[in-house]
Amino acid sequence: MDGRDLVRSVKVVGSAGAAQGLRTVRAAWRRRRADAAGLPPRGAERARVPGPVQHVEPGPGGGVLRFSRTLLRITVTVNGAVFWGWDGAEAEPSYALAGRCPDPDPRAVLEPDKDGGWRVVAERVTVVVSRHGAVEVRTPGGVTLRRDLPPRWWEPVEGGPARWMQRSEVAADARFFGLGGRASGPRLRDGTYRLWNTDPGRAFGPDDDPLYITMPVQMVVADAATHLVFHDTSWDGTVTLREGEEGAGSGHDRAGTCEVRMEGGPLRCWVMVGTPARVLLTWASLTGAPALPPAWALGHHHARWGFGSEQEVRRIVAGYLERGLPLDAVHLDIDHYDGHQVFTVDHDRFPKLPQLAEELRRDGVRLVSIVDPAVKAAPGNAVYDSGRAVDAFVRDASGRLVEGVVWPGEAVFPDFTHARVREWWGGLYEERLAQGFAGFWHDMNEPTSFTAFGESTLPRSARHSLEGRGGDHREAHNVYALCMARAGYEGLRELAPLERPFVFSRSGWAGLQRYGGTWSGDVATGWPGLRASLSLVMGLGLCGVPYSGPDVGGFDGSPSAELYLRWFQLGAYLPLFRTHASLRAGRREPWEFGLDVLEHARVALLERRRLLPYFLTLAHLARRTGAPYVRPLWWGAPEDRALRDCEDAFLLGDCLLVAPVLDPGADRRAVQLPRGRWYNTATERVHEGPGQVLVDAPLSRIPVLARAGAVMPVRGEDGGLELEVWAPPRGRTGGGLVVPDAGDGWDEPEVERYVARWEGRQVVVEREGEGGVSEPPYPVRLRGLGRA
Ligand code: NOJ
Repeated sequence: MDGRDLVRSVKVVGSAGAAQGLRTVRAAWRRRRADAAGLPPRGAERARVPGPVQHVEPGPGGGVLRFSRTLLRITVTVNGAVFWGWDGAEAEPSYALAGRCPDPDPRAVLEPDKDGGWRVVAERVTVVVSRHGAVEVRTPGGVTLRRDLPPRWWEPVEGGPARWMQRSEVAADARFFGLGGRASGPRLRDGTYRLWNTDPGRAFGPDDDPLYITMPVQMVVADAATHLVFHDTSWDGTVTLREGEEGAGSGHDRAGTCEVRMEGGPLRCWVMVGTPARVLLTWASLTGAPALPPAWALGHHHARWGFGSEQEVRRIVAGYLERGLPLDAVHLDIDHYDGHQVFTVDHDRFPKLPQLAEELRRDGVRLVSIVDPAVKAAPGNAVYDSGRAVDAFVRDASGRLVEGVVWPGEAVFPDFTHARVREWWGGLYEERLAQGFAGFWHDMNEPTSFTAFGESTLPRSARHSLEGRGGDHREAHNVYALCMARAGYEGLRELAPLERPFVFSRSGWAGLQRYGGTWSGDVATGWPGLRASLSLVMGLGLCGVPYSGPDVGGFDGSPSAELYLRWFQLGAYLPLFRTHASLRAGRREPWEFGLDVLEHARVALLERRRLLPYFLTLAHLARRTGAPYVRPLWWGAPEDRALRDCEDAFLLGDCLLVAPVLDPGADRRAVQLPRGRWYNTATERVHEGPGQVLVDAPLSRIPVLARAGAVMPVRGEDGGLELEVWAPPRGRTGGGLVVPDAGDGWDEPEVERYVARWEGRQVVVEREGEGGVSEPPYPVRLRGLGRA
């Protein structure tokens, strides 16, 4: 226990009470003992590199290259992605893949390259392997996007998993994004990023890393092309990034570098190349289409740790309704559980939960329940007993149940990497549905187990099924929450087959989007936290998880009225729009910050409601194309370097550019515009991109610009769908997509396409269909006409 551990343990003891503090000390020792017994020291290690290539076996989509000390399997698959695995690693089994590995593309063949190397030529990418095992990813035009040097392994002489290291070079102009949810991004600066899902144990800011969702997914954007690389290994590791530098004048370029180090697991990766949209389409086809949230989940949510009672919930909801503030969901935190035990209700404070849920639903408000994985280790606790009956809980190497400490005290943890356990857990949501809950908020699932010192999670030696393969927590940790999300999602599908489940999860891994979204966790209240919340949403979107959003106002403390409002205004344009705060934090209701804030928050809430059809369309498009709702400004122009470096604004779909205020005292801000004409949606003033413009950002609103020509679905005054159309520049056309609301079931409505064009002095909007063009079935509202 070093000094930092001591401070931490004092904090834990102080915050959770003496008894809980003692438990965390005991848990820390237990954890240490389990690892000492279950994970003997690695001992001496032997280093290995591939050696020269000796023999090649072409096969479908690529082939196998035999080096003197390893073999490399390369396959181009039908979705255009390239897989390669060292030491014979195959693409399956994988927790990231949505199903079976896609078929090999028979058109891709392995052929000799110069200097004894080999190459595979595919439609969008060429992969060249040198004689000594360097792997280059090139564009079809021959520009190198990434060069992996021959990997290196360290194998324990006594046997056991090998550690490995893969060093790569990228273009001097390349920028890195992704690696899951990172608070300091979205552009990932030089530094080392850990791959180990972590509850920081306190409200976090931009300097905290890692956080709850890490994943070995890098999106690399360079002039020549964008590529996504995914090292499909769930073990603990690090990624060290260093951006390159272009030589000025006659100077040389310095390549960017990336070094992935893993504590174990296969050395295998997937690469996809193209535009950002193409890359994410391929990524979604590999790891799964994002789950479509029910329409209500795209509205405004209000959460609170410590609602305290049904009366308090009613009071808050009434506060919204009386003031005419839209509200779509209320979230109940752990304080509504009986003794903090998941799948129970404190009947003293919440005596008639189903009735409350029903009343709220009549007012258009859904109830969402927190769901923690830890189960109080106490015979007589029904969840514990039923879990024991199916041998659901994680055990240590000696076969004993692993006990940690979470909110209910000493607790055990379901092993979600076992199908039987997922099925048992999924069935438990029946109790939640009977209480009237419509959505589920998975928390503490890194998994977190409080310890006075050391890491706040399970022992690394804890055993997991890993789908029958068997392994320990070193491999299972990062996929624990992903498997819990699967359990919840699949259980809900069985229990309520007619409705799309709404699940969002604090932790996760590559593929989480198949089951739902996430939120930014316990972001610290303060301006840096506000900035970090945008970074997380953008970074996660680029890793394929499009639905997320922060705790508006921050998790701890009390935001100033200005900070609260700016957070609220940003949140109104993010997929998950939720106010939430800790037990001890100040209030977060919009009426708690004075009349001005209330009025400005009302405007943001009403605008969010007006944009709901647009959000729903974006959700459908994310499902069909993998494109996140919130996109970096460079999404459509990755070659624009000024956009690549711009992190304080984003595109919301194709139509809107949102420029939140992230600094105190600002009433104007600079906005970097992509190419084309943009209208300020508040003033209809026109700005021409590319370039930087200064726009007003009074307290009453944040700058939102609409792309000229945009056709977007909005909610009209009567609640019906309306098309808002921003006049294209004269002589040009515009357009947009609409996916109408088809209820919260499984119907997949058709994507409607609209075009906007000038006809004489008028802008005409038409629907394009197979049989030609027709009048739109919705009212059309033209904007920006006088300015075009
Ligand atoms: C930690 C979560 O991040 C937070 O949102 C929640 O309020 C607390 N756990 C209590 O359940």
